Amino acid sequence: MVRSFSGIQPSGDLHLGNLLGAITRWVQDQHTHDAVFCVVDLHALTLPQDPAVLRERTVSLTALLVACGLDPGACTLFLQSHVPEHTRLAWLMECTASFGELSRMTQFKDKSARAEFISAGLFTYPALQAADILLYDTDVVPVGDDQRQHIELARDLAQRFNSRAGQDVLVVPKHVIPPVGARIMDLQEPGNKMSKSLESPQGTILVLDDPKAIEKKIKRAVTDADNEVRFDPEAKPGVSNLLSILGAATGRDPSALAGEYDMYGPLKADAAEAVVELLAPIQARYAELVRDTGTITSILHTGAAKARSVASATLARVHDAVGLLPPG
Ligand code: TYM
Repeated sequence: MVRSFSGIQPSGDLHLGNLLGAITRWVQDQHTHDAVFCVVDLHALTLPQDPAVLRERTVSLTALLVACGLDPGACTLFLQSHVPEHTRLAWLMECTASFGELSRMTQFKDKSARAEFISAGLFTYPALQAADILLYDTDVVPVGDDQRQHIELARDLAQRFNSRAGQDVLVVPKHVIPPVGARIMDLQEPGNKMSKSLESPQGTILVLDDPKAIEKKIKRAVTDADNEVRFDPEAKPGVSNLLSILGAATGRDPSALAGEYDMYGPLKADAAEAVVELLAPIQARYAELVRDTGTITSILHTGAAKARSVASATLARVHDAVGLLPPG
């Protein structure tokens, strides 16, 4: 079966971009693929984290992923730090990646421009991400558009590793980016993607926002003055973002939807209604799950055991290929 692997950081609250750009596809993949999903807590440590907040977010993100539809019986859901093979393969990926290619990563450039303290981990982050993917002999990586460059790097590293080893040790993965919803933009600053950093609370729809907050944020979304509804992300980023949100939430094509509106007001009202409808069942399931931390912990422990059995076999293969001796 084709293996699908992806990850998400517990570095902030889950937002509509994460859901429409990635998680919707994860939920589908678990029925058609051998699906493995990871809460990448080690990646979150590349920027400063409060330990208590990180702990809380890790549990609540796991509960939210299950509430979104991930079924621990149908997929493997685990925590990155529970599977030590990730950091062990990451070292070998750091020795496979060049300083130049890591320096060209746009996410590193963006994040380091804003960070007060630029950790070495922030720089080598894409090598750890490559390790996450390559450990599971991954065929496809369902992600939003902002991860495209990182997945391309993972491909390059796998190919380079294989060519140096003179054999196909690592599976070369491909990204899968949804046709609609891959780049949900901030509602207040539609030139920027919606993001987990709390810099633009009014521009970000959180999966746990109540219906009133969602309506208010969408109603106040920045559009433009000409009142023409057209899907054109370059010229009309705000309106196009609303069309993408409505399209991704209802499974329709944003350009076709544009033809059904001649004013912004009704488009905003329909987008808000579609988002509220999409999130209501997730919020209801989450409210039940998050109280049951025992179940969440046990899901993560079972997931880690399953993940480890695959990861340890890959790591042993990789160690052998580079000439490391097996440990006793
Ligand atoms: P993260 O945690 O920032 O985001 C999780 C997923 O959500 C997608 N996403 C978006 N999609 C559409 N519009 C947006 N505004 C938006 N914002 C985020 C992301 O593309 C992602 O798919 N480096 C990764 C985590 C990671 C990973 C991996 C992913 C670590 N190891 C291995 C895949 C495979 C990240 O920070 O995603």
